[in-house]
Amino acid sequence: MSQSNKDSRYLILQTPSKEEYKITVHEGDVAILAKDLAQIKLKTSTNQEEKQITSFDPGFMNTACCESTITYIDGDKGILRYRGYPIEQLAEKSNFLEVAYLLIYGELPTATQLETWQERIMSHTYIHVTLMDYMKSFRYDAHPMSMFIATMAAMSTEYPESNPTLTRRDLFEFDHRARNQQIFRILGKAPTIAACAYRHRIGRPYNYPTESSRGYSYTENFLYMLDRLSEPDYRPSPAIAKALDVLFIVHADHELNCSTAAMRHLTSTRVDPYTAVAGAAGALYGPLHGGASEAVVRMLEEIGSVDKIDEFLSGVKSKTRRLMGFGHRIYKNYDPRAKILKEYAEKVFAEVGRDPLIDIAVELERRATQDDYFVSRKLYPNVDFYSGIIYRACGFPLDMYPLLFALPRIAGWLAHWYESLREEKSAAKASIPGATHVMRARQTYVGDVNKELPSQEERKDISNQNKSLAALKTYHSNLSKRRRAPGTAQRV
Ligand code: CMC
Repeated sequence: MSQSNKDSRYLILQTPSKEEYKITVHEGDVAILAKDLAQIKLKTSTNQEEKQITSFDPGFMNTACCESTITYIDGDKGILRYRGYPIEQLAEKSNFLEVAYLLIYGELPTATQLETWQERIMSHTYIHVTLMDYMKSFRYDAHPMSMFIATMAAMSTEYPESNPTLTRRDLFEFDHRARNQQIFRILGKAPTIAACAYRHRIGRPYNYPTESSRGYSYTENFLYMLDRLSEPDYRPSPAIAKALDVLFIVHADHELNCSTAAMRHLTSTRVDPYTAVAGAAGALYGPLHGGASEAVVRMLEEIGSVDKIDEFLSGVKSKTRRLMGFGHRIYKNYDPRAKILKEYAEKVFAEVGRDPLIDIAVELERRATQDDYFVSRKLYPNVDFYSGIIYRACGFPLDMYPLLFALPRIAGWLAHWYESLREEKSAAKASIPGATHVMRARQTYVGDVNKELPSQEERKDISNQNKSLAALKTYHSNLSKRRRAPGTAQRV
C-alpha cells in the first residue's frame, strides 16, 4: 500500500476492557496492515494469558499479501485489465509475446523492443539433451503436466550459475541481465518441454523447435513441435495458431490466484525461478484450479444432448451436481475472458468443424443465466466454460488442458517474480512493510499445550491392537497381497 501518508483515516477498535486502538486505514486499497493489529493485546478466555491479536483468514478470502501494478480486476463489473489495458483490446489487437512483455516489464514494447524480445525468446527454445533423456525415462502414460513440472524443476540443475542458493541470495535483485536471462530461458523452453511431454504421451519422437529464422510465432512453433511428423517444412494452421494465441493472452495473468500466490511465496525464499515455476505449476495442476476446463468437457459429454439440460440443472440446484465453468471467487458478473472465448469458439469451428458440445454449452448458459438459482448467487460463465470446448475442437487430449493453461500463465508468474524482486530492490525505501520478508503465515494453535511423554511400556496396548492400528490402515495392491500371503517366508 503506497504510503503517501496523507491518509489520516483510522479504525478505532475497543477491547472489552475499554482500551482503544487506532488502526490506520491506508488510502487506495482501503486496507489495514495486519501488523498493526499486533499492537492489540487481549487475554485468552482459556487461561487469561495476554496475547497479541492476529487476523485469521484461511483460504485468503480477504487478505492482500502484496502491492501490484500488473493486473486489475473488478469482479462486480466483469473487468480485467493487464497494466491498464482491457483484455478485449489485447485479445483482438496484440499477440501473446507482446502481452508477456507488457506483463513483465510494465509497458508495451516499442517496435524495436518487440523484435528483440521475440528474437531473444525464440532463440532460447532448445532444451539440453539431458532434459530430453530425462523426459524419455517417464512412464509411457505419464501425465503431461507431471512431466512438465518435474522437467521444469530439473532445469535448475542445468544452470547452477543462476541459482541463488549456489551463488548469492540477492543474485536477481540488482542484476536485470540475470533476471532477463532466466525470463528468456523459461518462456523459450517451456513450450518445448510441454511439446515433448505431449509427444511422449502419444508415443512419437520429440521434435526440435523451428529455427528462429523461419519466423514462426510462439504458438506456431509450439504447434509445430506438437504436430510435425516428417515434413521438412511443416507449418501449422494460421487460424489454430491465432486461436491458441488468444487463449494464451486471456490466460496470461489473473492476479493473485492460487498458483501465482505460490510463485510469490516460493520467490520470497529466493529459490531459483525454475523451481518456483515448477511449484506454481504444481498448484495449478490441482482440480480446483487448472482442472476446471477438463471438468466442463466431461460434464457436457455427460449431459449429452440439449433435452437433458433441465434434468442436469435440477441436480445442480439440489446441490448433488455442480455446474462446472460457472461461478468465480472474484467475478460476480460475466467473466470477460469467457465472452472472448465464446466468440473465438465459432472462429475455430469455421476452421476445424463445429464441436457438438457447443450447442449444449450455449443452451446450458442461456437457461442457467435466466434461472433464479444462478442469478441470485451471481453465477456466470467463467474462462473455463468455453476454453475446454476450443481445446477439444482443436484435437487436444483432455490431459493437455492444464498444461495449455500453465504455459501462458508462466508469463504472469514471471511478471510477479520480477515485481517481487523489485520490491526487494526498493527495500531501502521500505514502502511496503513486510515485502522483503520470507512469506511465513501464522496459525491459530488449537491443540494440546502441555503433555507428559509416556514411556514405551505405558504405550503398550496389546489388548486393543485393531483400534491402535486404525490410523495406519492403507490399501494394498494385489501384488503385495500375494507377496505377503499367509505362509510366505519372510525374515522379520
Ligand atoms: N454450480 C452450482 N452452484 C454454485 C457454483 C456452481 N458452479 N458455484 C457456486 N455455487 C453456489 C454455491 O453452492 C453457493 O451456494 P449457497 O450459497 O447456496 O451455499 C454459492 O453459489 C456461493 O459459492 P461459493 O462456493 O461460496 O463460491 P466460491 O467463491 O468459494 O467458489 C468457485 C468459486 C469457482 C470454486 C465455484 O464457483 C465453483 O466451484 N465453480 C465451478 C468450478 C469452476 O468452474 N472453477 C473454475 C474457476 S475459474 C478459473 C480461474 O479463474 O483461474
